[in-house]
Amino acid sequence: MTTPLAEQFGIEYPIFAFTPSKAVAAAVTRAGGMGVLGCVRYNDPAELDEVLTWMDSNTDGKPYGVDVVMPNKVPTEGSSMDLSAMIPAEHTAFVSRVLDDLGVPPLGEDAAHNAGVLGWLHSVAQSHVDVALTHRPVLIANALGSPPVEVTEQCHAAGLKVAALAGATKHALAHVDNGVDIVIAQGGEAGGHTGEVATMVLVPEIVRALDGRAPVLAAGGIGDGTQVAAVIGMGAQGAWMGSRWLTAAEYGDDGGSKAMQQALVAATSRDTVRTRIYSGKPARLLKSKWTEAWAAADAPDPLPMPLQNILVAEAHQRISEAQDPDVVAMPAGQIIGSLDGVVPVAETMTQIVAEYEAAVERLRSTLA
Ligand SMILES: Cc1cc2nc3c(=O)[nH]c(=O)nc-3n(C[C@H](O)[C@H](O)[C@H](O)COP(=O)(O)O)c2cc1C
Repeated sequence: MTTPLAEQFGIEYPIFAFTPSKAVAAAVTRAGGMGVLGCVRYNDPAELDEVLTWMDSNTDGKPYGVDVVMPNKVPTEGSSMDLSAMIPAEHTAFVSRVLDDLGVPPLGEDAAHNAGVLGWLHSVAQSHVDVALTHRPVLIANALGSPPVEVTEQCHAAGLKVAALAGATKHALAHVDNGVDIVIAQGGEAGGHTGEVATMVLVPEIVRALDGRAPVLAAGGIGDGTQVAAVIGMGAQGAWMGSRWLTAAEYGDDGGSKAMQQALVAATSRDTVRTRIYSGKPARLLKSKWTEAWAAADAPDPLPMPLQNILVAEAHQRISEAQDPDVVAMPAGQIIGSLDGVVPVAETMTQIVAEYEAAVERLRSTLA
């Protein structure tokens, strides 16, 4: 199981794993794929520095990537205090009432209050890139479009490849025009920020439109080896998977909530919803009493990015600490319906490879 892109990176399998967990990212890399660590939650560059030092020494010298959430145009930024002042009282009151109704306890007296995920402010995302370049990732991926051209050039000068997610063909074309090396074609069934077009439609459309100008990784709804075989059949050079790793055993031991993992294992493929309540931009989340409350007739409209995340930051922290599988605020894709347990990464990789080989055999037999 290999592709020219996997060979170029020197990885055994063309399996790219987006994960917020360093333990999962490192385990995927050690198992022959490429672990890609999501950096958006690191408001403090010193903390990210420490985490990447850990990655450097826990990946057996094999390649890994980092993922930032950087807007293409550098916006005017206020401080988090200025931004908080822009949140309407009606929204704050709604969040507070819903948490009370759902029985989510307040934070303990000595808990550090989360200021909100600021990683999608340009200045913070730039600090992630600067820190990453002092370590040894081989790939920087960006969630919110092409990175600014200067940032891509900064990464290229340091020998890194740059990837960007695309939920529409016009975004994929713009990425390549902006100097991005690898396009991640992410269909609407994906967890997290997502467009509307399904992976089955989007991947061949983007492969055709790029016509060899850049390799394409397929994302969204890929959870097993048959799906990896399908996207490679469509011309992708690998699979970029996120939701599948949420139930990795290593995540549960590295800050991932066990209640969230329990809820994901119990969920079906119909138990996600695409909504703006997480960040202000459409993102697919696990359905729970929290998403239901925001879908009710009396709920206010979510605020634009980054205000919505600042609004719900402490709520996310409270929900996470409450460990109630019925009240979860978690990005998750439709593939969660196929997750049937909390499994170590190496076992999952072995299973994906075996399923891939069986799928390729089935395809080969159709040529007889
Ligand atoms: C919990 C979670 C958080 C995510 N956060 C990010 C992020 O910060 N940056 C990013 O580029 N993609 C993010 N994504 C999207 C993944 O990179 C990936 O494209 C997506 O999970 C693929 O679809 P799948 O969930 O069906 O595997 C996230 C996905 C999940 C499930």
